[in-house]
Amino acid sequence: MSPKSPNGLRIKSPDQLVAESGADLEGHGLKRTMGLFQLVCFGVGAIVGTGIFVGLSDSVAEAGPAVAVSFVLAAVTCIFTAFSFAELGGAIPVSGSSYSFAYASLGERVAFLVGWCLFLEYGVSVSAVAVGWSQYLNELLNSLTGWELPAALSAGPGEGGAVNLPAVVVILLAAVLLVRGIRESAGATAAMAVLKIGILLLFLAIAFTAFEDGNLTPFAGAGVSGITAGASLAFFSFIGFDAVTTAGEEVKDPRRNIPLAIMICIGVVTLLYVAVALAAIGALGSDAVADKPAALSLVVNEVTGSTVGGGVIAFGAVVAIASVVLAVMYGQTRILMSMSRDGLMPRVFERVSPRTSTPVANTWIVAAVVAVPAAFSSLDVVVGLTTIGTLAIMAVVNIAVLALRRSHPGLRRTFRVPFYPVSPLLGVGFCLYLIWGTGWSTWVQFAVFLAVGAVVYALYGRRGSRLAKAADQALNGGSAQ
Ligand code: ALA
Repeated sequence: MSPKSPNGLRIKSPDQLVAESGADLEGHGLKRTMGLFQLVCFGVGAIVGTGIFVGLSDSVAEAGPAVAVSFVLAAVTCIFTAFSFAELGGAIPVSGSSYSFAYASLGERVAFLVGWCLFLEYGVSVSAVAVGWSQYLNELLNSLTGWELPAALSAGPGEGGAVNLPAVVVILLAAVLLVRGIRESAGATAAMAVLKIGILLLFLAIAFTAFEDGNLTPFAGAGVSGITAGASLAFFSFIGFDAVTTAGEEVKDPRRNIPLAIMICIGVVTLLYVAVALAAIGALGSDAVADKPAALSLVVNEVTGSTVGGGVIAFGAVVAIASVVLAVMYGQTRILMSMSRDGLMPRVFERVSPRTSTPVANTWIVAAVVAVPAAFSSLDVVVGLTTIGTLAIMAVVNIAVLALRRSHPGLRRTFRVPFYPVSPLLGVGFCLYLIWGTGWSTWVQFAVFLAVGAVVYALYGRRGSRLAKAADQALNGGSAQ
């Protein structure tokens, strides 16, 4: 099939994407080791982290008890988009996620920009999550020993310190696990996912004993604008569900397991988040939770009258957030691998070590790059950029479903979005609504980031593209790669 569509876009067919990954599997490719349970754990590992443990108090500050509605709005955005991810993940089961989907539906330029934005969703997100981890590590140290790392060594310059060493350390630890291979990494992630759900259930069991209806009134004191601002903040705590699709080449029976795993993940975390928010506010009231560091530990300490429970929650947060670092960094390495295979990124990113069957150089480069903002940046900036980049990608994924249905109506789809085309259209609408809620300074930063991406594509990606080279060779009578 010609890689160029009638309108001149460089487009890869879904068959081509799957065939390329299949060809690699016979040689030096990745091993199919993940079943449904592992995949769900992997998804929960990627999702539950800084957002609920650290960010909940910020959302409560905006929305009050109506933060429950904010979580539902963020979840609805994710659910519509999850349907689209599930349809595309089931139809094109390869690593690369939204990047591959965009390549197959909207062409190379959009795919490159999606890959570029994925560096916000995955790379910059790892930095943000690692900074959150660092705060909870200090909280845990404090509750265990009464001592904590000085600010100079545990926060970046924008937050009153010099360098955030724990954030760098957790990134390096994740890199070590990832280069050792998916089997061990997935096992570790599964154990951590089970533990973090257990910690949140423990929180619910304790907090609900002190639940009082009166603490939920006034329910929506900050009105619709408060709920909207809360939803944009709450969205961060859902980021990561699509990481499931980045494991496409390592999943057994991917056409069944990927859509199922995404749906299970999003359902479970939505129920958990709404319950945790209502339990926390129901126990102490909004004002006692709003803008408080380590809010979940605080609630448990107040309810039990002891610091032991809060220490356990802090331990859970440290574990939970570390597993997010691991899962999200994994996703970033696989996306770069896909882009490298396409010639849009240097070849070093696609090299798989024959000894470990993992992309070793790729992993260490990613770790080194994301460690820099983790060490020196401000949490607000990296969280804002992660959020807007992810929402932009999700809007594109919803559009990709519409485009692929038109261009490949006969493609085998193990899952179809319900109420097509209403579902993907609503997905786009909700993404734009939450982008609007992120505020103008984030829009400007994002516009600059996109502009740099467009220049990089023009100077490097467009020329390196193997798809274009194959097409040129075919035109000149040579053999396509
Ligand atoms: N959803 C991820 C978290 O909450 C990014 O940490």
